[in-house]
Amino acid sequence: MDMGLINKTALVTGSTKGIGKAIAIELAREGVNVLINGRSADEVERVVNEIKAEFPATTPRNAAADIVDSQQREALFNKFPDIDILVNNMGIYEIMQYEDVTDEVWETYFRTNVLAANGLCKLYLPEMLKREFGRIIFIASEEAVMPSGLMPQYGVTKSMLLSLAKSLSKLTTGTEVTVNTLLPGPTLSENVQHIIDGIYANEEMTWAEKERSFMKTNLPQSEIQRFIRPSEIGRLAAFVCSPFASAFKGSPIRMDGGMVPTIF
Ligand SMILES: NC(=O)c1ccc[n+]([C@@H]2O[C@H](COP(=O)([O-])OP(=O)(O)OC[C@H]3O[C@@H](n4cnc5c(N)ncnc54)[C@H](OP(=O)(O)O)[C@@H]3O)[C@@H](O)[C@H]2O)c1
Repeated sequence: MDMGLINKTALVTGSTKGIGKAIAIELAREGVNVLINGRSADEVERVVNEIKAEFPATTPRNAAADIVDSQQREALFNKFPDIDILVNNMGIYEIMQYEDVTDEVWETYFRTNVLAANGLCKLYLPEMLKREFGRIIFIASEEAVMPSGLMPQYGVTKSMLLSLAKSLSKLTTGTEVTVNTLLPGPTLSENVQHIIDGIYANEEMTWAEKERSFMKTNLPQSEIQRFIRPSEIGRLAAFVCSPFASAFKGSPIRMDGGMVPTIF
């Protein structure tokens, strides 16, 4: 299916690895010129070159910046003011006991997982509204609607994104600008693979055996009993960015492998 995205420009935050990189790749596959972001300019350049080699008809560019820093966000906007698509993917997560979540940790999570994305929306949404076309996607998590209790500082920030998306969506009435949230379930980013490999470091097991064992023991509620592949989230994001998805307005869109047990 041609998603009608050729020659659009997309900024994908945190796109040097994991879900962000997969979203950038799937957008580039659709002919989108992607702005790759991460804090290391060298790492960003490596991914830019990788995408350029795979999709030579597109023009990926280096958008390295620490987007938690408001000055760097503004500099990024001044360098790339014209984008059609903003994917707020960058986010941090870690299992923590509630009693260890200090005020400083709460602030770090709020700044990183909410304020960085909100700051970029403040800069880019007015431009999209002027042009009456644009796509903003927030990457939340199933933790946004089904907190496991294992990472309270994370779940709260992901719930906030759902509310923020709907508030911003209200500003887009009558335009082809959409603001939506994707809720991935457990997804096999390099980070997650590293954690699983660490858990089974002393076992003689293939990756498939480790994955099966981990899912059975730790995530029995997953109906797919495997990690979602980042490319699956990437394809969904590309669709939500497409002109065919204009009727998604402020929607939380779940691709959670069946983790959330409710219908809605
Ligand atoms: N993996 C999962 O199972 C899962 C499930 C549900 C939702 N999610 C959500 O999906 C998103 C991506 O997760 P992931 O597992 O793919 O992440 P990841 O592998 O940890 O990748 C994070 C990316 O963000 C970049 N980054 C980190 N801090 C940054 C900053 N301050 N400014 C700019 N870039 C920054 C990293 O590059 P540098 O470190 O080089 O800056 C990297 O490119 C997150 O919002 C996460 O909460 C993940």
